[in-house]
Amino acid sequence: MSKIVPVITIDGPSGVGKGTISQLLARHLGWHFLDSGALYRLTALAARRQGIALEDEALVAPLAASLAVEFVPTADGEAKVLLDNQEVSNDIRTAQAGVDASVVAAHPTVRAALLQRQRDFAQPPGLIADGRDMGTTVFPNAAHKFFLLASAEVRAKRRYKQLIEKGLDANLGSLVEEIEQRDERDRTRSASPLRPADDAVSIDTSDKGIDAVFAEVLANCTDVV
Ligand code: DC
Repeated sequence: MSKIVPVITIDGPSGVGKGTISQLLARHLGWHFLDSGALYRLTALAARRQGIALEDEALVAPLAASLAVEFVPTADGEAKVLLDNQEVSNDIRTAQAGVDASVVAAHPTVRAALLQRQRDFAQPPGLIADGRDMGTTVFPNAAHKFFLLASAEVRAKRRYKQLIEKGLDANLGSLVEEIEQRDERDRTRSASPLRPADDAVSIDTSDKGIDAVFAEVLANCTDVV
């Protein structure tokens, strides 16, 4: 009989700090890390590169099923992302790539095509899975489930600060609007909408720093940490 691999899921809307918390936890435990959003971002990028309309579910789903993707770990802990043997780590991180990902992610057959690929990340000694539907659909039997939240204004302000620190232009009002639109699309789609699993621990990160959120997550996982 195959051994059951423990999984911890961390879901929530965009810009809530899931990625940071998930990576900290993965490093702390020495477990694998699944950035499920990257798979939707890669699907959208592959579609754009092949001139396929993101709305064309019948053409985008086979692309999702056959994505030639590799996540190569680097010394700083960030994975280098390859699509068809070409590095696309920065291409999938743009604001447009996030919006594109949210569009292809609304197609049920795209989600179905990526399901097993996500489950395959569950390898010993364990997996931290970051996304929107990790606790509800992809890993319903996870050992621990978290749902992080913060208001759109708080998330937009964090994003604004990051962009300004990088010397990039930013407009707080448009960031709030972009975040609200993406939340709306992710929450209202028919297939695996963004929502906490019934057995998830919800953490409002609005008034908390990364350290406080991480401590709260650890305190809820004492059987594995
Ligand atoms: O987490 P992220 O910003 O990289 O995700 C980009 C988009 O991908 C997000 O707006 C919705 C979609 N997504 C999803 O539908 N399900 C997931 N498990 C992860 C991401």
